[in-house]
Amino acid sequence: MTTDPVLQRAVGILRAGGLVAFPTETVYGLGADALNRSAVRRVFEVKRRPEGHPLIIHVGRSQELAALARDLPSQAWELARRFWPGPLTLVVRKSGIVPLSVTGGRDTVAVRVPGHPLALALLHAFGGPIAAPSANRFGQVSPTTALHVSSDLGGDVDLILDGGGSEIGVESTIVDLTRDRLCVLRLGGISVEDLEAVVQAQVAVELHGSSAPGQLPSHYAPRAKVLAVTASELAQGAEALRASGARLALLAPAGSDQIGEHDRIEVPKEPEGYARSLYAALRTLDSRSPEVIVVVLPEERGIGRAIGDRVRRAAAPRPKRNEG
Ligand code: TXA
Ligand code: MG
Repeated sequence: MTTDPVLQRAVGILRAGGLVAFPTETVYGLGADALNRSAVRRVFEVKRRPEGHPLIIHVGRSQELAALARDLPSQAWELARRFWPGPLTLVVRKSGIVPLSVTGGRDTVAVRVPGHPLALALLHAFGGPIAAPSANRFGQVSPTTALHVSSDLGGDVDLILDGGGSEIGVESTIVDLTRDRLCVLRLGGISVEDLEAVVQAQVAVELHGSSAPGQLPSHYAPRAKVLAVTASELAQGAEALRASGARLALLAPAGSDQIGEHDRIEVPKEPEGYARSLYAALRTLDSRSPEVIVVVLPEERGIGRAIGDRVRRAAAPRPKRNEG
């Protein structure tokens, strides 16, 4: 048990079935006691998330994976040893203690040890698994600061722990360990290259299959329309964009061309810095109500691939906003 009064309060809230938002190195999470069905139900309500979309379970120590899983392949421990605490989520067969409400009715569970000191302090003080999706409403831009969480969820969350801006800035990489071959279900903080170096084999990437529930084509979306372009597409399309007469905002690596935009945020060129700034920049531009946010993609290597994935989902046609 902790002597820190804020952590004590957070633990009290979790034990009583309440919700505590907390920082992680990827994005802020909306945490609930993972083994308490009614607490988990509240997460879905507050997020307005459809029931079939499973949550990630966070634990404070790698060894805790054993109690949540069964038939664990040895690869799970290899990956845990190399990447935990850190932005990697492992999908494994679930044990009997994991409620089906957490896993969206599936026989598998997603688990990670987050790399943020405050997240770890909370997990250690609580002493059990915490289910936490990103602390935003379903389908919208993920939060990378405590302020993002309070402006998105406000009074619907019992406590928000402020741990500063998220270091990585995009969600964890999710890998499925329940098949013959390791398969990435969501690109994120750990690159495919990093995974391949550890497992010494080619890793499959399947971002849109039914095994990646919750990975919808339209996701991570601000209110404005988003247009995703490469640097060369920007150069070719600049004239047409200027001529369109639309109120444009531009989110681009430092030094990009002008397109007659009303507003512009420059993000670092190197993919790590770009990822760290991405969601905050999208939110800031969106708050100034442009018609279109033109996003110039970084080079698609390392975490740049995850950025490309998020921006394309933000740009995808949206069936219906703010629903389900
Ligand atoms: O970085 C992160 O992973 C953040 C922080 C808070 O840890 N969490 C996060 O959670 O991004 P969320 O709920 O926004 O995304 C969870 C995703 C689901 O949409 C789904 O794609 C995948 O995790 N997932 C969870 N359980 C799964 C399972 N059993 N099988 C396959 N995918 C699963
Ligand atoms: Mg999310």
